[in-house]
Amino acid sequence: MNRLYYGDCLTVMQEHMALGSVDLIYLDPPFNSNRAYNAIYKDESGRPLPDQIDAFCDLWEMDEERERVLRTMPVLLREAGVDDRAAEFWRLWMNALRHTQPRLLAYLSYMVERLLPMKGLLKPTGSIYLHCDPTASHYVKIMMDAIFGHGNFRNEIVWSYRRWPSKSRHFQTMHDVILFYTAGRGNTFNVEYEPPSASYLKRFKGKTQVLDPETGTRKIVIDEPTKGLPMRDVWDLSILAGSSKERLGYATQKPLTLLDRIIRASSNEGDVVFDPFCGCATTLEAAHRLNRRWIGIDIAIHAIKRVAAVRLRDRLALHEGEDFAIDGVPRNVEGARDLWTRDKYHFQRWAIEQVDGFVTTKRTTDGGIDGRLYFGLPNARDLSSMAIEVKGGRSVGIKDVRELRGVLGNDQAKLAGLIVMEPLGPVKERNFKREMLKSGDLNVMGVKYARMQMLTVPEILEGKRFHTPGVAGRGLAQPVML
Ligand SMILES: C[S@@+](CC[C@H](N)C(=O)[O-])C[C@H]1O[C@@H](n2cnc3c(N)ncnc32)[C@H](O)[C@@H]1O
Repeated sequence: MNRLYYGDCLTVMQEHMALGSVDLIYLDPPFNSNRAYNAIYKDESGRPLPDQIDAFCDLWEMDEERERVLRTMPVLLREAGVDDRAAEFWRLWMNALRHTQPRLLAYLSYMVERLLPMKGLLKPTGSIYLHCDPTASHYVKIMMDAIFGHGNFRNEIVWSYRRWPSKSRHFQTMHDVILFYTAGRGNTFNVEYEPPSASYLKRFKGKTQVLDPETGTRKIVIDEPTKGLPMRDVWDLSILAGSSKERLGYATQKPLTLLDRIIRASSNEGDVVFDPFCGCATTLEAAHRLNRRWIGIDIAIHAIKRVAAVRLRDRLALHEGEDFAIDGVPRNVEGARDLWTRDKYHFQRWAIEQVDGFVTTKRTTDGGIDGRLYFGLPNARDLSSMAIEVKGGRSVGIKDVRELRGVLGNDQAKLAGLIVMEPLGPVKERNFKREMLKSGDLNVMGVKYARMQMLTVPEILEGKRFHTPGVAGRGLAQPVML
């Protein structure tokens, strides 16, 4: 069945995908752009929410995890069959980057770690298209040469587009780069054609040039319709206009026309198309429309739940469970505990988004609040919020409740919500509730809302939510880059 996974593509590829099972990989990973991509949400009256959800961070630093990967890289490269000399080149190169461009080093090691399992997933007839931009495409190409083999390099596709010019002391940067490699020589390839130019048509209208095998020269055959010219590696395709119906509000959304072209060229009906960084699932929609099977992964829960799943349901009328499956999103307490053990930050995100809250992006400056939930109050110009704190571990104590109460005093939040993993024992629950009651109620048009509230993960999974005035921001508005 077609599948959408929530998680790090590295883990999903290693734990859930079979070697040699994929016909085509398209990946559009973070580009080393050093930007955070946010999605802007608005409330029903169009007011933007003050805190926005960080769609994903394209910011790179060398940290312990990156250092660990670099240490194990020689072994990983050898296991993936990378030539020893290429591995030695990589080692020297990485050492040089450590001093000159540590961020780039962090990015490249992240990418290599994920490209190595991709190589293993490809069928011998398979292809991989890596979408990047000139910021790092030249470095990425060297890595791709080492991993997939220079002999398997097929094209550097330039996707050229137009957008509003910006003020700069250089030429306008208006292209992305797509590196196309194959697993071997017998790759699937269906020649695509582009419309012939006006001058070509004028000269050869109704005529086709064919190669005479005897003389090796070209001759003109009259009255045959022309299919056009075999497609070049420079593609002039529009980016999504602000008004496009295709837009889903995902900051890095790619146009369907681009994916359509790649999928047609390098796969056949029934083949498996895989996008390990699927974002709002553009590849999956294009693959589905072309009768391919598909697998997508994204590490951002809101990409999977709010955007990709909505695209599949609303634009393709697909039903979860029948036409496709979503994996990795906790559905029960065990799943939530498993997520907490694997990745505490993503557990927090999941819990906050379950209750229609937003992960706080300014975590360092607002006193450790994990997220916020927004609502409008009558006659108030700005939206009000509930500050949300998530405690996944078992050691949650009364001091956590007191700290959150302190937030109500110092923060503009009108309400505070605590999310805990497990139901508390009866004594603890009584103590927590007593402490929370001290904050009193918020009275809105005669309705009382407890200023401090608590939910457990099982309650959230059963559909219980915080008691607040109407929650704002369920709809995506427009994306921005920060
Ligand atoms: C450039 S966007 C992809 C956009 C996509 N092509 C589309 O049209 O919507 C990159 C995506 O990679 C995801 N991502 C980043 N790191 C990831 C990882 N390790 N595993 C899976 N997804 C990841 C981000 O959440 C983001 O949605």
